[in-house]
Amino acid sequence: MIERLENPAAAAEWSAAQRAAGRTLGFVPTMGALHAGHLSLVRRALEENDAACVSVFVNPLQFDEAQDFDHYPRDFARDVELLDGVGCSMVFTGTLAQFFPDELDADGRLLPQHYVEPGAAAAGLEGACRSGHFEGVATIVDRLFDVVQPTHAYFGQKDYQQALVVTDLARRRGGPKVRVCPIAREPHGLARSSRNERLPADVRERAAVIHRALVAADQLWGTGERDADALASRLSAVLATEPGFELEYAELRDPRAWGPEAPHGSLERAVALVAGRFGPVRLIDNLVLGDAS
Ligand code: PAF
Repeated sequence: MIERLENPAAAAEWSAAQRAAGRTLGFVPTMGALHAGHLSLVRRALEENDAACVSVFVNPLQFDEAQDFDHYPRDFARDVELLDGVGCSMVFTGTLAQFFPDELDADGRLLPQHYVEPGAAAAGLEGACRSGHFEGVATIVDRLFDVVQPTHAYFGQKDYQQALVVTDLARRRGGPKVRVCPIAREPHGLARSSRNERLPADVRERAAVIHRALVAADQLWGTGERDADALASRLSAVLATEPGFELEYAELRDPRAWGPEAPHGSLERAVALVAGRFGPVRLIDNLVLGDAS
């Protein structure tokens, strides 16, 4: 039976007891509304550790739009049930005030000096589109790592840039070891995301255009094309076939030479990244080109 804890202090105590018993601990930070992608991270954590735990906290620090925060799906009871079903050992939640006692101002906002610097990987793409997003992510993930002090932490590749940011954060802190796990997809290709719940069924199918665009760029890569602009044009051309998709970016990056600007010229390695909206729902996805072959 899963241990359900309602505050970070209790989670810290539980995690310390695991460590004291010599057990390795795999940790999956989430914002809840769990889906198959999250559960695959928990299964991987259970394979590689003696116990697995999950946090569920819709972190207000990382939302740049109040409506996105307000409409973010929440169902803690269902999350607990799903986690119990896959053998997760502990799940915890908390409030902003519990995570940051003595660090909030009179209006309940985190004082600026307590934000954690997200590092160079935060520049460009998501960092450019969502002001303050990665500061919010780095700040809560740093605190969650303090609470759990896990052996390994598991993140999905869907949030490619976030994975870079938290890997760098963990390196600067001296741990935990970060594992980045493959993207889980719906049958028609849409990357699984808690935000998909807000899409009507027909839009979910149309949103598969994002995956089709990534696959088209991958196919072009497979023919030997290495020019960054040619690959980006293929992405944009496929995305443009879906009039309901409001594009924010469709760009390439060299995963080992990450920078805020889109590269030009020939690439040795490439990840294609897309972000945009169907109505109010913002979606992101990516594909490392040539990975499937
Ligand atoms: O990927 C997410 O769900 C969130 O950004 C995270 C890592 C749980 C931090 O709030």
